[in-house]
Amino acid sequence: MRRLFVAGNWKMNLLGASAKQLAEGVAAAVPADESAIDALVCPPYPYLRAVGGAVDGSGVQLGAQDVYHEPEGAFTGEVSADMLADVGCGWVILGHSERRHVIGETDELINKKVAAALKAGLKVMLCVGELLSDREANQTEAVVDAQLTGSLKGVSDADMANVAVAYEPVWAIGTGVTASKEQAESAHAHVRKWLAGRYNSEVAEATRILYGGSVKPDNAAELMSQPNIDGVLVGGASLKTDLFVPIIEAAQ
Ligand code: G3H
Repeated sequence: MRRLFVAGNWKMNLLGASAKQLAEGVAAAVPADESAIDALVCPPYPYLRAVGGAVDGSGVQLGAQDVYHEPEGAFTGEVSADMLADVGCGWVILGHSERRHVIGETDELINKKVAAALKAGLKVMLCVGELLSDREANQTEAVVDAQLTGSLKGVSDADMANVAVAYEPVWAIGTGVTASKEQAESAHAHVRKWLAGRYNSEVAEATRILYGGSVKPDNAAELMSQPNIDGVLVGGASLKTDLFVPIIEAAQ
């Protein structure tokens, strides 16, 4: 049985005071030990420590939105996996569509980041998903397969215990257009089939596959009721306690 997982990706939003206040509100809704689900918040780098402090002692985990693959050195502006672990991160989001399509990250680079994160003991939330043009050209599965293949190169069966996959159709991100539960379930079932082929049925059954793309309190429960949807990766609605907490409650 896979434990449901609700993750908030705050992207490049909030300032210190509002980040801390939001983190405190989320922490209050997820008491340690009592929670039947995993909850995660991923603030911008400058607020990791403060947000980590605010969720400390609760059931909410801390994650970052990206990492650089080199361990240290002359890489101005970048942050290493060891640094993230050092400030209390348990997770890192990698391969988000905004990293792929706005910043220009390739599967090859994402793969290096996945390897570096796992080596540092971080858990990885690997994002995959197709553009609207891919979907319209019936290329959804081919695009997702290529992203999974490229990003998980060299990642072992054992490593997969520390990887979750987030299926995020790019056309649904920040648009208010959510994938229907049928569209999302079909893509998730496909990802699980891919995992069974690339790894084995145990890995496929154990790996959590989250849905992301305009998740709101009124569609979260329906999405998570699908057999292959093991949680949600929330952007916009994770920025407000009165939206994110009901999504967490929908999973509980
Ligand atoms: O990482 C989160 C996703 O990009 C979803 O963002 O909930 O604002 O559509 P959204």
